[in-house]
Amino acid sequence: MPKRTKIICVVGARPNFIKIAPLLEEFEKYPQFKKYPQFKTILVHTGQHYDFKMSKVFFKDLNIPNPYYNLGVGSDLHGTQTGKIMIAFEKVCLKEKPQLVIVVGDVNSTLAGALVAAKLQIPVAHIEAGLRSFDRTMPEEFNRLLTDHIADYLFVSDPIGITNLTNEGIPRKKIFYVGNIMIDTLKNQLPKIKNAKQKLKILNQLNVKPKEYAILTLHRPSNVDNKKTLKELFSAFKEIQKQIKIIYPVHPRAKKRIQEFGLEKWIKNIKNLILIPPINYIDILSLMASSKFVITDSGGITEETTILKIPCLTIRENTERPVTVGIGTNIVVGTNKNRIIREINKILSGRGKKGKSPKYWDGKTAQRIVKIIHQHEYAK
Ligand code: UD1
Repeated sequence: MPKRTKIICVVGARPNFIKIAPLLEEFEKYPQFKKYPQFKTILVHTGQHYDFKMSKVFFKDLNIPNPYYNLGVGSDLHGTQTGKIMIAFEKVCLKEKPQLVIVVGDVNSTLAGALVAAKLQIPVAHIEAGLRSFDRTMPEEFNRLLTDHIADYLFVSDPIGITNLTNEGIPRKKIFYVGNIMIDTLKNQLPKIKNAKQKLKILNQLNVKPKEYAILTLHRPSNVDNKKTLKELFSAFKEIQKQIKIIYPVHPRAKKRIQEFGLEKWIKNIKNLILIPPINYIDILSLMASSKFVITDSGGITEETTILKIPCLTIRENTERPVTVGIGTNIVVGTNKNRIIREINKILSGRGKKGKSPKYWDGKTAQRIVKIIHQHEYAK
């Protein structure tokens, strides 16, 4: 009987779903040995994100199979959420006895999945390893650091990741520069967003024309959990919307804080700031691809705008993805109102960054990852 590797893939939050889709597809496609699958993948959803628009819609649009297990942990304090995932996921690992656990990104589900596997002596693969913001006020920075230090395969998306990891003493032989798996999904979906009819649907629904609007996304605790910062940011957006419409899909965390801080009425009254619920992947890509520019505090979006060649402003003091600044279209502008307005004026006067694609952001990252796992697992 040929050898077969049982692999558990862990996902929990919206960006995880986008990253896991091409990998699962690639495992399915991998050459079979006399009709005997060499990989058996088991998808585990921790339930960190649970709203239809934050979770299920991505499974539907990206053809991700239904999770074999849904741990249903939901939202909670970080320690509690991480702990709940660990308790439930340990049971899954003990039952399934996988040969490998794959985690993606930097969310609480990433760390919880990796920690359980490592404690059970199950090898761990981390996709999107090596990113560092060097900002320990960000919950994601701990998730990245700790996951990388217990992982056996570190699949790096930004070339700086190799330097970061080796500087931390991680052996070079565990590190693989494979490119950016999010771009695999982006490239898979590009034909849909190039389809004029499909693209115009969401633009028409929102009553906007190509290049006559900007997209805004905002969800980081450092921006939305602080009333003063949130007010400063929205007073900048209030100025900007005098020149160009801004479409803002509101993340649940931001929605909650806007309500708590009593800012809802003020924000809703800003005429050209169009608030909409979270939207699906094809719609956000279509909107970004036709926008004049994007303002965001997300990491993944700075990568997507780099490939779409759309100028992007990151409203944070740092980024763990420097290649989007060095090569791509991203500029880190912080949260100061005047700086944000200044940079936007540059874009509006035609001086936005054009950018290039980083190496291996070519839609073939999942292929490279599966090949490496295959070579190593079968060499054992
Ligand atoms: C999480 C990740 C962040 C990632 C983001 C993508 C961590 C530490 N953070 O942040 O890195 O960029 O996902 O979206 O893992 N909520 C809902 N419905 C949902 C999910 C969340 O209403 O389906 C609300 C809850 O009130 C919850 C809050 O949003 O308390 C925050 O959710 P949580 O998963 O803790 O963190 P995110 O801010 O989404």
